[in-house]
Amino acid sequence: MSKYSSIRGINDVLPPESDKWQYIELKARKVFDCYGYSEIKIPVLEKTELFTRSIGEDTDIVEKEMYTFPDRKGELLSLRPEGTASVVRSYVQHKMYASSSLSKLYYFGPMFRYERPQKGRSRQFYQIGAEAIGTSGPAVDAEVISMLFTFFDQLGLDSLNLNINSIGCRDCRPGYRAVLVDFISSRAADLCENCQRRYNDNPLRVLDCKSDHCREKTSGAPSILDYLCGGCSSDFDSVRKFLETLGIAFNVNDRMVRGLDYYTKTAFEITSNKLGSQDAVAAGGRYDHLVEEVGGPPTPAIGFAVGVERLSLLLAEDDISLKKSPDLYIATLGEDAFNAAFRLAHELRTHEIKVEYDHEGKSLKAQMRRADSSGASYALILGEEEIKSGRAMLKDMCGSGQEEIAWEGLLSEMRVRMKG
Ligand code: HAM
Repeated sequence: MSKYSSIRGINDVLPPESDKWQYIELKARKVFDCYGYSEIKIPVLEKTELFTRSIGEDTDIVEKEMYTFPDRKGELLSLRPEGTASVVRSYVQHKMYASSSLSKLYYFGPMFRYERPQKGRSRQFYQIGAEAIGTSGPAVDAEVISMLFTFFDQLGLDSLNLNINSIGCRDCRPGYRAVLVDFISSRAADLCENCQRRYNDNPLRVLDCKSDHCREKTSGAPSILDYLCGGCSSDFDSVRKFLETLGIAFNVNDRMVRGLDYYTKTAFEITSNKLGSQDAVAAGGRYDHLVEEVGGPPTPAIGFAVGVERLSLLLAEDDISLKKSPDLYIATLGEDAFNAAFRLAHELRTHEIKVEYDHEGKSLKAQMRRADSSGASYALILGEEEIKSGRAMLKDMCGSGQEEIAWEGLLSEMRVRMKG
């Protein structure tokens, strides 16, 4: 038993799981690049106030899930529970709006929420997120969603469900809110403690409550879609049309309000039936007032974040074609052969050929077993005889063939083979 273990809900990611993560990250970078996004690196730590202001005082995240502590000077800091607030803070701080009318940014990294750990839910989890800041057209909403689906397609994922909703804007939401408070107040006594406490300040949260009992009690709640203003309504129609144009199937879910308060208009969530109770693999939406709230000029924006742990659960190991096995295994017998292998491996590795050899003086039989189990494409056997003659057998581990080569010319021999 090790003296130390990792903190509950904060996990190591080991190979081969980390290979999958690398593959996911590579695919994301490729796809996002095609859509004109650039990477932004944002800090893990921010002033707590940034999150309380952006995400909302009476959200689960701010009320009970943030890792918050004073630094040595007493300033309250939090480990980021999500990336959008930081991206927007950075956008405003560096006046990105001055150099370009549209900033398309993506990020990778760990987020922290003190939630009850379970399958697909941890306290440190990784997100891949993207934000398009500076444009309000509904075509961008559909484009952002389509980028996400292109990414999922590239990973070979299917059976994903896209849920969309519009949660209105500053003009139409207050009217809906009043009607909703009215509806809830007559049932409030039957709702869970959280809903009873929140419904006056944040009635939309009640629609999002995970308790079956609350859902049942509010099943006839008025729909936000009936209260949208002209602008929100026509934008939502356009988003749906654009999605149809791209052949992206969706389901309109008028109870989906999302757990963060910065959203306006389009909100979406992508779920999978294969994930169990934590079924949201990605989520996002429009946040047209956040830049202003963080101190920038009025700037519409939209984005999403994917949960990497959940995405990885959906990907079988054989679905990934990230080759980890060596191109060549050199088996050696005797000190001179080992020294030759040591030098050859260095030469080949500097030319991006993956080479392994034995450091532990194992028997030739054990080395060949290792070559086999490593999945190496080729094996070279070097013994005293080979060192003297300058010639050695290069064995094709996938086929059955082998060929005698001059081992000093191994680099060019391998290059020819790796190209084919
Ligand atoms: P979110 O819905 O809170 O949105 O998180 C996005 C995704 O992160 C979820 O769909 C899920 O896959 C993953 N996730 C969240 N919490 C956990 C957890 N405890 N363990 C494992 N995975 C988790 C946001 O964070 C927004 N910032 C998304 C966004 C970007 N909206 C606009 N731009």
